[in-house]
Amino acid sequence: MVSDRDIEHAASVLSAGGLVAFPTETVYGLGADASNAAAVRKIFEAKGRPATHPVIVHLADAAQLATWAREVPEGARRLARRFWPGPLTIILKRASKVSDVVTGGQDTVALRVPSHPVAQQLLARFGGGIAAPSANRHGRVSATTAEHVRREFGAAVDCVLDGGEARIGIESAIVDLSRGAPTLLRPGWITAVEIEAALGVALAAPTADAARAPGTLAAHYAPRTPLTLMEGDLALELAASLARQGRRVAVLALSARPPPLEGLEWVAAPRDAAGYAHALYASLRRLDDAGCDTIIAEQPPQAPEWAAINDRLARAAAGSSVPDDT
Ligand code: TXA
Ligand code: MG
Repeated sequence: MVSDRDIEHAASVLSAGGLVAFPTETVYGLGADASNAAAVRKIFEAKGRPATHPVIVHLADAAQLATWAREVPEGARRLARRFWPGPLTIILKRASKVSDVVTGGQDTVALRVPSHPVAQQLLARFGGGIAAPSANRHGRVSATTAEHVRREFGAAVDCVLDGGEARIGIESAIVDLSRGAPTLLRPGWITAVEIEAALGVALAAPTADAARAPGTLAAHYAPRTPLTLMEGDLALELAASLARQGRRVAVLALSARPPPLEGLEWVAAPRDAAGYAHALYASLRRLDDAGCDTIIAEQPPQAPEWAAINDRLARAAAGSSVPDDT
């Protein structure tokens, strides 16, 4: 799929200050040379992202931590040993060379070593850090295929590396080790319990000022179509009732049962958390593209392995109001 020449080309685009979209095991990233402020600015322009929202710097390995962070606490070493390369981002105090464009003017920097082989090859070939947020327009659904990225950005991205479907499908867990007790800023596929076990201490809940991470804004990861999250039977009843009134309804169902009514735009999501996460953003994009009046999603279970999924669904639903079925 991706040849050595493609990697070579992508690395040269980065060196020249261009934008490269690349696959990671979580979602696709929209990357630029993290040491080139003008290049990183292009990411913000392409995404329509506010300049105060910092981006993650992707590294080839944990040995590069000391280049980007001025202090590497024992907790960071533990997390890196246990989870890198992998879907975990660590926030540390930034090294002085890290640009304000990358950190959104904060004194901290987000660092991650991704495990996807294409990301690994690109990072190894490029040599430096790659600043990359998820490859989607600000506030919207993340991209889990190269096709999603191309459709969303077109010519605004100089190079798209196609590494197939992102395996995990939801963004990395983010742990803040830059101040006070370790804090989970964004849940991910690696659970809070696993992170606590590796750290040997409990994680604190994010405080109000942690809202500086936009992935933790109430409304994010959102399709354009209003989305409502409801318990199983209620979700299906509401969908059927709205459809009978002539509304165009899309359903993200957990049940294997067939749609209760013809004419619903229907996606039956996998019942296991791994399968659900893997398919989530592609399903939301498909339902969004159907041009319905509303998307109704069946609430998944409230179990630890569903925590990150429920977090993303709740944010996707924030800002939408429950459709009136009278
Ligand atoms: O899985 C992922 O993390 C993907 C792939 C591409 O690596 N990236 C990703 O990036 O989700 P993005 O920008 O969509 O989300 C990164 C989150 C944002 O909520 C951002 O605010 C937060 O990380 N963040 C970045 N730097 C931070 C910092 N210094 N302090 C607090 N939060 C930070
Ligand atoms: Mg994002």
